[in-house]
Amino acid sequence: MVELLPSILSADFARLAEEVAAAERGGGTVIHVDVMDGHFVPNITLGPPVVKSLRKATTLPLDCHLMIENPDEFIPAFADAGANWVSVHYEACRHLHRSLELIAHHGMKPGVVLNPATRVDLIEDILPMVHHVLIMSVNPGFGGQSFIPFSLDKIRQLAEMRREKGLAFRIEVDGGVAHDTVAEVVQAGAELLVAGNAVFGAGHPERDAQALLALARKAASE
Ligand code: DX5
Ligand code: ZN
Repeated sequence: MVELLPSILSADFARLAEEVAAAERGGGTVIHVDVMDGHFVPNITLGPPVVKSLRKATTLPLDCHLMIENPDEFIPAFADAGANWVSVHYEACRHLHRSLELIAHHGMKPGVVLNPATRVDLIEDILPMVHHVLIMSVNPGFGGQSFIPFSLDKIRQLAEMRREKGLAFRIEVDGGVAHDTVAEVVQAGAELLVAGNAVFGAGHPERDAQALLALARKAASE
């Protein structure tokens, strides 16, 4: 089933609770939280204190996408703050298996993220451990970038690997998901659709979430 994960990166940070509530009214079912450290990616966003506040503002699961170096050092703090799903980048983890175990040990759903240039087959052996795989369809760091077309091939390849192995992890896509790309993304096999700019960019998150989700559901039913 396709789900919309509004990314608060493009929301008004001074009005986060209202923005999240509007995105939820528009059909968002999981809130995507981009954590950036200024080292792994060239931008800085937020950390556990903001997650703790968001936890009080919504009952939806919080999907924390860690774009940080040494994620193991911070996983316990995200758990304490109330994160539900935590994903770490393949490129940021020296011991990816250990990081995924640590996330699960703290009662959260572990996910692995691949940058556009990272091949899908590199994560084959750890697929049984993950709740979700996040395919980056832009280079991480900023909202509002253009969708990188070959991401569609990676989604297809991952969906095929899942089928072959009889696994149940979910396929998430992040970056440039908007009205003009969402149908192809869904048809390629992604079901967790992260969208920042397309939901919050025009200042009408309820309306724009609804419209994007309608396009996604239409593509899923075709
Ligand atoms: C980018 C972030 C994304 C970002 C996507 O590094 O991981 O979650 O919010 O933004 P849009 O949907 O605007 O491309
Ligand atoms: Zn993200």
